[in-house]
This record gives sequence, C-alpha cells and structure tokens, in this order.
Amino acid sequence: MSELYSITKKIISGGKGILAADESTGTMTKRLDSVNVKSTAENRLLFRETLLSSQSMKDCIGGVILYDETIKQTASNKKTIPELIESSGTVPGIKVDTGAKILANSTKEKITEGLDGLRERLKEYYKLGARFTKWRAVYIISENFPSKLAIHTNAHALARYAALVQETGMVPIIEPEVLMDGTHNAEDCLMKTSEVLKKCYDELILNKVDLKGTILKPNMILPGSTSGEKIESKKIAELTLKCLKESVPSDVPGIAFLSGGQTEKEAAENLNEINKLNNTNFVMTYSYGRALQQSALKFWSNNIKDINGTQNTFNHRAKMCSLAAQGKWTAEIENK
Ligand code: 13P
Repeated sequence: MSELYSITKKIISGGKGILAADESTGTMTKRLDSVNVKSTAENRLLFRETLLSSQSMKDCIGGVILYDETIKQTASNKKTIPELIESSGTVPGIKVDTGAKILANSTKEKITEGLDGLRERLKEYYKLGARFTKWRAVYIISENFPSKLAIHTNAHALARYAALVQETGMVPIIEPEVLMDGTHNAEDCLMKTSEVLKKCYDELILNKVDLKGTILKPNMILPGSTSGEKIESKKIAELTLKCLKESVPSDVPGIAFLSGGQTEKEAAENLNEINKLNNTNFVMTYSYGRALQQSALKFWSNNIKDINGTQNTFNHRAKMCSLAAQGKWTAEIENK
C-alpha cells in the first residue's frame, strides 16, 4: 500500500496536477473536427506527443491520463508514450472504463461499463507502464435526476473498479461527474453532488478500498449552464468546499477537479479561489482535459508545424493551473 501512497503523492503534490489526455477516438475526432484537422492515428499522436514533450510536463504535470490507443503508441524519438511521460518525472495513467451506456429501466441516465475482463486489462496496462487509472461515472441533474438507481449502480461500479485497480498496484481515480448541463441552480448542484459522493464512499468502504491510495475527481459546484445564474468565483469555492468537507472522508489525500465545460480562465480562477479558502486536509488540484488543451489545440491546428508555439501555449495554460493549485493565480499573470 505504501507504494500506492507514494504514487498518489507524486501525481498531486507541489502544485502539480493531471493532464486528462484520455479522449476516446470518438471524442478526439470531435475535438479535431472542430479545428478542421483530420482525425487520423498519426494526427492524434502528433498533437499529444507535442504536449507530452513540453517543458511544463516537468514543472506542472504530475500525471497524464491516456487512452488505450495512445498508451500503445511510440513517439518520434522511439520511446513508448509511457516512457516519454516518465522521462519528465510524470506518472502515466490510463482510462479503463469502456464508456457510459443507457441504464436499463431508465430513459436518459447512464451507467458506466467496463468491469468484465477488467482484472486482465489492468495487468496489461501495468506492464505497459501505467501506475494510475481513471473511471468516469456521469450523472445528469433535473427535477428527478440523478435517480437513486443511477446513484446506486454507478457507485457500485466505481467501487468494484477501484478495488481491482488497487489489487493490481495502481492508484484509482474515482470520477463521479455531475454534469453542468441544465437549468438548475448552484444549490441544487451542491445537494445532488453531495448525494452522489456520499453513496460513492459508502460503496468504496464496503468494497474495502484503501481511500489513502485514491484520488477523487469531482465537478465543482456550479449553476447549470442554461440557468442564467452567474455567481462569483468565491461563492463557487465556498459551495465546493462545503460539499467536499461534508461528503468526502478525510483519508482521501487529494482532489483533482475536472473542468467540465468551464472556460480555461474560469477553471483556473475557480480552482485558485478553492485553494485560497481551502481549510481541509485535501490537496486541491486539477485533472483538466479541455481547460488545459483547448488553446494549444487551436494554435496547433493553425500552425501544425510550429511545435514551439504549440508548446508555449500549453506551457502557459499548465502554469496558470499550477499557480491556481497553489492559490497564487491572478488575472494579471493570466493576461501577460
Ligand atoms: P474536462 O476537463 O474537459 O471536463 O475533462 C476531464 C475528464 O477527464 C473528463 O472525464
């Protein structure tokens, strides 16, 4: 177990966070389509290799979550992608769920799949160099959602996943994402996220998962994206801290937020406020996909040969997130 604790520490300490580069081929194709780049295996690798070779990998990124395709690819310097990541002192990770499908007896809600054959797949990923993993459950908010059924079944799957991952010697990231889509207000998000998190920890404890060797990847507490409600960053931080303090056992060493559709700036500013107010024992950091990669992807798509320019754009984002993880981000530094 002490091995798990040191992996966890390496990923999230010292102002470092996680780069979530684990978009499935379908999602990555959408991202590349949006900037008019053809989604081939070569182009997906080229963009990812450019980020994974940048300076901020050493300074700001403690772990990278990969997708099945990428963990098996080789970089242009002949290193495997996990070797390239390790050469920056960063921990390679892997998404191991196989996606969210419609839950039986529900019209809209989803259950995340991937438990069948998971033990064997985990062993293979360990051999390829992965030392941590991710499983994402997804919940929607509306008057009747998330339902007890979605909350219960997803918590059960997350806990069985986490137990298998620890058995293989890797750190599980537990990601119950309550989506920001909807007209709900921030108080609703707080109430529903708390219910989801509490059930996850009931199941994790029942499945004897060692919480000290896990990382939680939650959403921040935000008003629904079509609610018309705008609240200050400080209020978001207060509500998020209240939710996590009440719902997450203190044994959990670290919380690495997803960005979930926030802009790059919002994701940095909100994390910064959370760290300024943080009165818990949890390390509060980032595990961002879009909020770390969006600008770099846009720059790259217009300047596909400009490796330095793409890396500089990514380095700036990673630096902003790292400052936010230490409560040291400011709007002035952001705009420099
Ligand atoms: P976003 O930060 O783009 O929400 O992605 C994080 C993630 O890994 C979602 O599973």
